[in-house]
Amino acid sequence: SRIVVLISGSGTNLQALIDDLAGADAPAEIVAVISNKAEAYGLVRASDAGIETRALDHRNFTDRAAFDQALIAEIDAFQPDLVLLAGFMRILTADFVTHYRGRLLNIHPSLLPRHKGLQTHQRALDEGDEEHGASIHFVTEELDGGPVVIQGRVTVHPDDDAASLAARVQVKEHRLYPLAARWFATGRLRLEGDQARLDDVPV
Ligand code: GRF
Repeated sequence: SRIVVLISGSGTNLQALIDDLAGADAPAEIVAVISNKAEAYGLVRASDAGIETRALDHRNFTDRAAFDQALIAEIDAFQPDLVLLAGFMRILTADFVTHYRGRLLNIHPSLLPRHKGLQTHQRALDEGDEEHGASIHFVTEELDGGPVVIQGRVTVHPDDDAASLAARVQVKEHRLYPLAARWFATGRLRLEGDQARLDDVPV
């Protein structure tokens, strides 16, 4: 499978994917990393790994629709089977989401459907959550609302702040995304209607 990863920032999830898929026997290959921010450190991680990079600055476009059409063109030039949002901090239009329906995954730092949107760690603390975590989900038109594929859970400690909680959640994130990418690449995972379907491993 061919994977394109979209990022906006440091790219620790991207790094986890690069490391996991580095072996010659990996079921998928990251063929490009695209950022809406030219200074995103994730682009350095990608080029260090010999992966093609593109930067597409959303501020150069008159509106969201124009940016998304240009982004589709950049992505589709690499003919991906799967597109992964890994800290890509732009809201995508319905046209974009529809174009990649069933082959677009996102990672979100909460136990969805709790805490959609931003500042999830602080909100988990503010609301006294005993558990927090991260979710991989298929992207649909509802922001952070598509069918969940897998979640990783952490216990919230009494002395946690947003940073300590984020660090513990990120450990989970870095395990979850490679797993989901491998499931998709090997045909075990798919979107059926509005549901994520994961096949059992044949025994
Ligand atoms: C992650 O916490 C991800 O869940 C969220 O943005 C963050 C990206 O971190 N959507 P990184 O760029 O992968 O380090």
